[in-house]
Amino acid sequence: ALPQTPGPPRDPAHPFEIQVSAGCEVLPGNTSQSFFHGAFQGQEILRFQGTSWVPTPSAPVWADRVSRKLNEDQGTRKTIQLLLNDTCPLFVRDILEAGKSELEKQGEPPEAWLSSGSSPGPGRLLLVCHVSGFYPKPVWVMWMRGEQEQPGTRRGDVLPHADETWYLRVTLDVAAGEAAGLSCRVRHSSLGGRDMVLHWGEKGSPTGLIAVAVLVSLVITGCVVYLTLKRRW
Ligand SMILES: *[C@@H]1O[C@H](CO)[C@@H](O)[C@H](O)[C@H]1NC(C)=O
Ligand SMILES: *[C@@H]1O[C@H](CO)[C@@H](O)[C@H](O)[C@H]1NC(C)=O
Repeated sequence: ALPQTPGPPRDPAHPFEIQVSAGCEVLPGNTSQSFFHGAFQGQEILRFQGTSWVPTPSAPVWADRVSRKLNEDQGTRKTIQLLLNDTCPLFVRDILEAGKSELEKQGEPPEAWLSSGSSPGPGRLLLVCHVSGFYPKPVWVMWMRGEQEQPGTRRGDVLPHADETWYLRVTLDVAAGEAAGLSCRVRHSSLGGRDMVLHWGEKGSPTGLIAVAVLVSLVITGCVVYLTLKRRW
């Protein structure tokens, strides 16, 4: 038989677990409610109420002795009252105040415009749909042909502006001949269910303006050349 090795007595209450939960709630009308609960082996046994510890009704009888012992410590009781009555509600009010502008922020509708990016290759166009100044962050943007979503749509990262609104760039790589008839569709909570749709090549887009500018300058150059030649002849 092996000799019995002497060791610490085996106590069924070991190991034991103590849990503490404390905090406060700030309620409308500038009132607040604080709590400080203590549990032993997963069962709540104590609460701090008003100025002292009290055992909970379902606690084992020995919890009474524990709370009487804890209540002898006047200093800790004063500190807990200070934390529960003043520190915690002040802290929570400060956090709410700091986050107020964020919590109360109304939706901001996006602005959107189109441009062409640097050409992805010969005979190809990179269509860019810019969506800017929107809040909150979730937004849906898609290149479309009629009602058909274009699977080649590439979505960039949603980037922050300094004023807490957001910016997003969504691109589509297409053959130059296929750009006509494409549109960029923007869906955002601030738009009240009405999508924003921008058509590629319509007036107002830089590409349209560039085309007009090129045409106008060609016509002017043509006229100048014609007049110069005519005068010479
Ligand atoms: C809320 O109450 C605390 C004290 O309980 C006070 O310091 C604070 O100014 C009050 N805030 C408002 C907005 O009334
Ligand atoms: C803290 O609030 C309780 C009421 O919840 C009150 O009985 C107690 O006197 C207050 N203590 C201090 C130090 O303000």
